[in-house]
Amino acid sequence: MAALLTMRGIVKQFPGVRALDGVDLDVEPGEVHCLLGQNGAGKSTLIKVLAGAHRPDAGEITFDGQPVTFASPQAADQAGIATIYQELDLVPGLSVAENVVLGHEPARLGFTRPRDAEERARELLRRLGHPEIPARRELGRLSAAGQQVVSMARALARDARLIVMDEPSAVLDPEEVQNLFRVIRELTADGVAIVYISHRLEEIRQIGDRVTVLKDGRTVARNLPGRDTPTAEVIRLMTGRSIEYVFPVRAAEPRPDVVLEVDGLTRPGEFADVSFTVRSGEVVGLAGLVGSGRSEILETVYGARKATAGSVRVHGRALRPGSVPSAVRARMGLCPEERKSQGLLLAEPVSRNVSLPALRRFARAGFLGRDAELSAVGDVTAQLDVRPADPTRPVRTLSGGNQQKVVLARWLLQGCDVLLLDEPTRGVDVGARTEIYALIRRLADSGVAVVMVSSEVPEVLGLSDRVLVVREGRVVRTAPSADLDESRVLDLVMEGTAHG
Ligand SMILES: Nc1ncnc2c1ncn2[C@@H]1O[C@H](COP(=O)(O)OP(=O)(O)OP(=O)(O)O)[C@@H](O)[C@H]1O
Ligand SMILES: [Mg+2]
Repeated sequence: MAALLTMRGIVKQFPGVRALDGVDLDVEPGEVHCLLGQNGAGKSTLIKVLAGAHRPDAGEITFDGQPVTFASPQAADQAGIATIYQELDLVPGLSVAENVVLGHEPARLGFTRPRDAEERARELLRRLGHPEIPARRELGRLSAAGQQVVSMARALARDARLIVMDEPSAVLDPEEVQNLFRVIRELTADGVAIVYISHRLEEIRQIGDRVTVLKDGRTVARNLPGRDTPTAEVIRLMTGRSIEYVFPVRAAEPRPDVVLEVDGLTRPGEFADVSFTVRSGEVVGLAGLVGSGRSEILETVYGARKATAGSVRVHGRALRPGSVPSAVRARMGLCPEERKSQGLLLAEPVSRNVSLPALRRFARAGFLGRDAELSAVGDVTAQLDVRPADPTRPVRTLSGGNQQKVVLARWLLQGCDVLLLDEPTRGVDVGARTEIYALIRRLADSGVAVVMVSSEVPEVLGLSDRVLVVREGRVVRTAPSADLDESRVLDLVMEGTAHG
C-alpha cells in the first residue's frame, strides 16, 4: 500500500538538546500507527514538526506522495493533518462550540453563525459518545476529560486524513478509552490514519496496527506489528533494559495515629457526605470514573474549593474551609491533575518550580541561598530522574512526563505530613512510573499520609492500603485493597450507571 505519510531523517535541535536526531516514520491510510518512547524520547517534538508547529533542521516529509514543508499549523491543517496535543491548546474563555470550530469556522457559508457552530459541535459530541457536554458551556468549566473530548471533536470537525493523538487516553477512564477506540475504529474504516501516542502499553495491543519506537531522538524500531510484538520486547526497545512492572512492597505498617480526618464533606452537585481517615504511613486510593467527584474531593480537602458542609482535620486540628494557606500550614501538599494550569510556572526554571513552596526554608538565612536551592533541587530531581538533568531549564521545555516529575519533586523537597496525589503517573513512562511508585511508597513508609486518585485500577490496588470507591459523588465502598481485585473495583465503579 502507498504510504500516506513518510518522514525521513528528521532532525530538530533546541538550544542544548538535540530532541530529534534523524527520525523516520511511515504511516499508511487507515492504520493506527503507535509512536512509543520514554519521556523525552522526542514523540511530541516529532508530531509538532509534522503539524507545522516546529521547523525541522533537516529531513524530508512527504504527504500523499508530495514533498511538503508545513510552515505553520494552518498549512498542516489545510493539508488534512489534525493534531490533538498532549497539553491541550484550547481556549478556556470560549464556549465548547467556539473551540470546536476555532480557526475553521463553517466557511462555506461565507460567515459564521453561532448556531451552525453549535449544531456541528453537538453532532460531533454525540458521535464521540458525549451528548451531555453542553455546546454553549464555557470550556474552562469542563473537567480535563471533558476538554479532551472537545479537543477530539475539533480534530473531527476538520475532516482530516491523518489525526495525531498525543496521549489522548491519559485523562480518560477505562470506559472512555473504549469509547475513544470505537471512534478510532470508525475513522480508520473510512481510511483516516491515526498516529497514536501512549504510555499505556496494553492499549497498543488493542488498537495498534503498527508500532514505531523512538529512543533519545532516534527511531530504534520501525513498523513492528502492533498486536504481535511482545510487550517485554517493546519495553526493551524503549528503555534498553527490561523492567519488571511491579509495585513496591511496604517496608513499614501504617501507624495507629490518624493524620487526616475528613468528615461529612459536601459540595452540592459534586459530592456529598464524604468521610474517611488516613493514618500516618497509610496510602488511601480513590477509585472512580472521571466525573465521579474524585478530583473535586481532593481539591476540597486541600481548600482549593470550599465545602458547604463537613470538616477536614490534620492531627486533630480543623482546617479553615476553602483556605489553601491553612492546608499548607498544616503541611498538606497537592499534586493536581492539570499540571499545566494548576501545578507549574511554565516559563520559570525547574529549580524555581521545585523549590516554590519551600522558598522560606532557603530564605531563612536572610537571603535566598541560590546555591543551597540548586543543590537541594538537584538532589530530588536526580532521585526522580528528571531529564534533562539541568535545573536551570524552563519547565516549558521539558517533555510532558518530566513536567509531571517536577510537580512530584516539589513535595519531595518540601516535605509534608499529608500528600494528595491526583493522577500521579499521568503521562509518565514505564521506567519512571516504577520510580514514582517507589517514591510514593517511601514517603508513606516515612510516615506521610497519602491520598491518591488514579484512573488506572491496577495502580490504585497496587499502591494503596485501602481503597474508597467513589460513584457519583458518594463513597460507595471502603475496603482494604487486599480484599479487592480489578474486576470487582470496575463493577463497583460502574454499578447502577447506564453503562453498568
Ligand atoms: N521548546 C523546547 N525547548 C528546548 N527543549 C525542548 C523543547 N521542547 C522539547 N524539548 C526537549 O526535547 C526532548 C524531547 O521532548 P518531547 O516533548 O518531544 O518528548 P516526549 O517523547 O513527547 O516525552 P513525554 O512522553 O514525556 O511526553 C526533551 O529533552 C525535551 O526537554
Ligand atoms: Mg510528549
